[in-house]
Amino acid sequence: MVEKRGLADVALRGRRVLLRVDFNVPQDASGQVADDRRIQEALPTLNHLRAAGARTIVLTHLGRPDGHRDPRYSLKPVARRLSSILGQPVPLADDVVGIHALEMSTRVENGGFLMLENLRFHPGEEANDPGFAAQLAHLGELFVQDAFGVLHRAHASTVGVPKRLASVAGYLVEKEVRELSHLVGQPARPYVVVIGGAKVSDKLPLLESLSGRADAVLIGGLLAMPFLAAGGTRLGQTPVESGMEEAVERFARQATELGTSIVLPSDFVIDRPGESSPRVVRFDQVPDDAVVRDIGPETRSRFTTALAGSRTVFWNGPLGQAEDPRFSDGTRTVLSALASIPGYHVGAGGDSARVAQELGVIGGFQFLSTGGGAALEFVQGGDLPGLAVLPNA
Ligand code: 3PG
Repeated sequence: MVEKRGLADVALRGRRVLLRVDFNVPQDASGQVADDRRIQEALPTLNHLRAAGARTIVLTHLGRPDGHRDPRYSLKPVARRLSSILGQPVPLADDVVGIHALEMSTRVENGGFLMLENLRFHPGEEANDPGFAAQLAHLGELFVQDAFGVLHRAHASTVGVPKRLASVAGYLVEKEVRELSHLVGQPARPYVVVIGGAKVSDKLPLLESLSGRADAVLIGGLLAMPFLAAGGTRLGQTPVESGMEEAVERFARQATELGTSIVLPSDFVIDRPGESSPRVVRFDQVPDDAVVRDIGPETRSRFTTALAGSRTVFWNGPLGQAEDPRFSDGTRTVLSALASIPGYHVGAGGDSARVAQELGVIGGFQFLSTGGGAALEFVQGGDLPGLAVLPNA
């Protein structure tokens, strides 16, 4: 694991610090922050900067406004939540760059905070435009990178600014890198991966990176469908991602050759028009008008048995439609079994951490990442541009 320069290596009192965080948090229907875990996880860095007397200018994106100012993605609710968590005002500049942001940034006091509006209101952010990055860099004297969730993006605020300003990693980035590094290279074996979610095309790079490295890959959710369909199984009205037959067969062949066993569901909980409650069927007996919603009880116990005796577990994605209480038993049962299995258990990618929290199974994990795509790319052994650009210790 490469060590990066950190907060302990720099003087902070009275300095204008540009702090990049990933406060791309879920919002409810009225735009309020629905889950503030990403804000809470940045607190060690925020508190350190405050205690050290830094003048902190907080940068983040929210959603994908595609370079346009869109009030649905304003950071107003995020700045309010941050202010209430910190117990001190966090004014929001209504733009990221420009004279107003510049003026406000010079007025921040020692130990104080300013937040700038959504970085992605500017097309220059995602394009990593040099002019935009230079304007951002001009607002601070030091850059602190604590936005682990966005390190896989080569944007102005993740790559352009640290190329122009003295930079260090924040505490959340350090923690994510340290914890997720357990899954890179040679994890303690047996290494078992539980993977669900919807699209095989999104998960293929991850699956391929596990061939020969994991002892078993347990596949649930809609992700399992193309594997079963490739073997000729009929799955009723369940959405099956098309065009994936060859890719999944190639992956399954390669994994088996390299000693990684692929475990697929052998029964399902289905939902069928005209039937008031869901029922369980064998994987190859899904009626033509039914939809698969969750893994069945036999699959839950096969998955749990495969996890027993493991030393490292990586979980990514729900094994059924876990947001619906009728179809969350599969994910809940398998993940709650982790609490009584010794070893190192990590959940990462997509909204895995949130699902674990909502299902009440966080006790089975040693670490739940704040990262979505960034965590998956890291675990696959990829280079994250926002991490590579930070100076080594
Ligand atoms: C995330 O939520 O995964 C990060 O904030 C990155 O968001 P993005 O996929 O829109 O770049």
